[in-house]
Amino acid sequence: MNGAHEPADAGIRGHVVIVTGASRGIGRGLARHLGQQGARLAVTGRKPERLAALSAELDELGIEHLAVPGNVADREAAVDLARQVHERFGRIDGLVANAQSFRPVMPLEDVRESDMDLLFDTGPKGTLWAMQAVFPYMKEAGRGRIVTMGSAVGMSGGAGYGPYSASKEAVRSLTRTAGREWGQYGITVNCVCPASAAHRMPPADDPERRAVFDAMYAQHPMRRDGDPERDIAPPVLFLLSDAAQYITGETFMVDGGGQMRA
Ligand SMILES: NC(=O)c1ccc[n+]([C@@H]2O[C@H](COP(=O)([O-])OP(=O)(O)OC[C@H]3O[C@@H](n4cnc5c(N)ncnc54)[C@H](OP(=O)(O)O)[C@@H]3O)[C@@H](O)[C@H]2O)c1
Repeated sequence: MNGAHEPADAGIRGHVVIVTGASRGIGRGLARHLGQQGARLAVTGRKPERLAALSAELDELGIEHLAVPGNVADREAAVDLARQVHERFGRIDGLVANAQSFRPVMPLEDVRESDMDLLFDTGPKGTLWAMQAVFPYMKEAGRGRIVTMGSAVGMSGGAGYGPYSASKEAVRSLTRTAGREWGQYGITVNCVCPASAAHRMPPADDPERRAVFDAMYAQHPMRRDGDPERDIAPPVLFLLSDAAQYITGETFMVDGGGQMRA
């Protein structure tokens, strides 16, 4: 713990951080960056072969880690994951509740119960199960850092994104409640909202989708998507560090200023 007048450390060397949904996309970028900055990791995802590929990549980078397949919608699996991580490393410093399943874009009138269930089971509920699972260890340690994943489209209520947007706003709401309830234990809980990360860019041979992206980025301050490792992961590392020890319940737009579009 840092005293009030000691400089807070912005690093996470030696810390143990769980990243859910790390086998591709933003989670993979997070794992690579946090690991290269000295964190020891527990990484998850549903498909074992994808997770094995990430594990090989982390091995190559010399990043100490535990890879545990599982679905974030499964509350018992979350408890078991935290137990395994604590057993292996003896501590849990951080959680990035990143994983969430997605459904194709659809108008509200077509949304069915199964769409809402998938988004809520893997979004706010999956996030809550992971937060609950690490809570006892962090409370005992008197320190913890939790980062949840919202989305710019949750805040804008993008057309066609009804179930996803609603689930992401529920994640932000849980983030604030956890921040209020757990701050007294030295646990901070903050939400990061990307807008669009580079791995979603349409390929050159899909001119229609390419045109939609080009139109979107014509009004964007940075004129480009975010890169998971270079753009999204560094602010997450800050929120996991001691430098962010007095920040909780907040939402951070990590969208290159995209929210400012008219
Ligand atoms: N990419 C963006 O532009 C963007 C923008 C705003 C917010 N976000 C948010 O950022 C987070 C990551 O997004 P992403 O685009 O990187 O996603 P992604 O490319 O679809 O990757 C999702 C990762 O999570 C795993 N996963 C998916 N469903 C899971 C489940 N039910 N249980 C456990 N693991 C699961 C996937 O592996 P398996 O499929 O093997 O399980 C994969 O590793 C999400 O919360 C997303 O909503 C993304």
